[in-house]
Amino acid sequence: MWPKLIIFIVLVAIVEAQHHAEEMQHNSNSFSFELKHRHVHVHRFNNNRPETQHERFKDLLHHDIIRHNITCHRLQTRRRAGEAVSSAPSIELPLNPGSDLGIGQYITTLKVGTPSQMFRVIVDTGSDLTSVRCRYRCSKRAGGGSGDCSMKGRINGRRVFHAPLSSSFRPVPCSSERCKVELITLFSITTCPTPLTPCGYDYGYADGSVARGVFADETVTIGLTNGRKTRLRNVLIGCSDSYQGPVFNNVDGLLGLGNTKHSFATYAAEKFGRKFSYCLVDHLSNINATSYITFGASRNPVKLSGNVRRTTLELQALVPFYAVNVRGISVDGKMLEIPMKVWDVTQGGGTILDSGTSLTFLTDPAYQAVMEALTMSVSKYQRVKLDAVPMDYCFNSTGFNETLVPKLIIHFDDGARFKPHWNNYVITVGGGVKCLGFVPARFPGVSVIGNIMQQNYFWEYDLAGKKLSFAPSACS
Ligand SMILES: *[C@@H]1O[C@H](CO)[C@@H](O)[C@H](O)[C@H]1NC(C)=O
Ligand SMILES: *[C@@H]1O[C@H](CO)[C@@H](O)[C@H](O)[C@H]1NC(C)=O
Ligand SMILES: *[C@@H]1O[C@H](CO)[C@@H](O)[C@H](O)[C@H]1NC(C)=O
Ligand SMILES: *[C@@H]1O[C@H](CO)[C@@H](O)[C@H](O)[C@H]1NC(C)=O
Repeated sequence: MWPKLIIFIVLVAIVEAQHHAEEMQHNSNSFSFELKHRHVHVHRFNNNRPETQHERFKDLLHHDIIRHNITCHRLQTRRRAGEAVSSAPSIELPLNPGSDLGIGQYITTLKVGTPSQMFRVIVDTGSDLTSVRCRYRCSKRAGGGSGDCSMKGRINGRRVFHAPLSSSFRPVPCSSERCKVELITLFSITTCPTPLTPCGYDYGYADGSVARGVFADETVTIGLTNGRKTRLRNVLIGCSDSYQGPVFNNVDGLLGLGNTKHSFATYAAEKFGRKFSYCLVDHLSNINATSYITFGASRNPVKLSGNVRRTTLELQALVPFYAVNVRGISVDGKMLEIPMKVWDVTQGGGTILDSGTSLTFLTDPAYQAVMEALTMSVSKYQRVKLDAVPMDYCFNSTGFNETLVPKLIIHFDDGARFKPHWNNYVITVGGGVKCLGFVPARFPGVSVIGNIMQQNYFWEYDLAGKKLSFAPSACS
């Protein structure tokens, strides 16, 4: 009898302590999301995953090229919108549906609502709307869902967030300033039949996918790095009652980590020391490899295998992207002749770090110089032309010796140097073939340091200090 009572009391105490821990706001100073590459995820769900490495590359490049195209387009549009706003603060911005990226390469899980419901979402540093497939109300509506009012479980085999079952779901009213002004960058619809009608959005993605739904403030539950959980309250999310297109075929939604006021990254970074960091493993060589993104200072930092370098993180230059000031690129110690305008945002250039792009895009003048310097060293290998892979220089890697790969260094304005691992830019595409991992882009336009170039490095984005820190790491 007594032991049972003691066990009961202890249990109650543990439950209470856990409850208390959940309510204590962020005493642990960080939390992490596990990142799985899209290809790995699709594999798990047995859904037309590209079979050979060559096919995977075609798929990655297809996404890269669309994404880069839309990136340039979007930056121009934002620039124009920005000019319109600054010259006339009260101006009505065009309300036509816009277009966003949303073809990130990594997937994680997100718990939404109270009680929480779990979803698989694409992680994207180029988007700012976090949204999940969702049922806001069960009545039929034009263009909306099927009118299923059972409010339980999946709909058509898909996980759906049932908003009415969540006690913390708070729609943003269409009559609010947020809807009419602030959320326009997230493609809010400003028609407002009654003041309390939820603020809607119509979000077009680069590949033609579309998400429609309503904005809400909602609670997101996250696991802290100390093993506890905490709730982030009033996170802006999209309740998407309509998803169309390839982006959403295998996932339940999207986690927007872009550099804007409304993105999850900005929200979470505010609560956790205004910092986030990630380390991406080489997903091409090990399908089981796990990468992480951590918000806040990591308590058990990943092991670094070299010195930490720091450079300025440009948060205003190429919104919603994270931009860096590159000064030049050297190959085997020789600075390449690249016109400075390539790196200069005010002259139509500039450089971003993007987790949603796989390869590295260089605008023409830089691309020519880098390729010339690198091809010399691999010219002893037989050149191979690959079908439908727009990487210019691929070669038969029989007898390949990595010590022959020249050392490529990206130099930042403030003197910091990023020395990628050789296999971040000489990429194994399988079948005994390697390629130089650069893709040409038109100038004027942005250059993009893609996720393969960033692999096996630890990257920390300090939003308060406007610093980007990086160091080589095996990410474990
Ligand atoms: C890039 O976008 C433009 C219009 O914005 C389009 O005409 C062109 O075909 C696109 N190119 C690719 C490769 O998708
Ligand atoms: C991945 O993990 C599974 C299960 O743990 C294991 O069977 C498989 O061999 C692993 N694959 C690789 C490439 O490490
Ligand atoms: C690479 O070269 C080797 C030996 O010369 C040859 O056997 C092999 O078929 C070549 N592979 C490709 C993909 O061209
Ligand atoms: C690669 O080249 C280096 C230096 O030229 C040499 O020491 C090494 O043995 C070579 N490795 C292989 C596998 O051939």
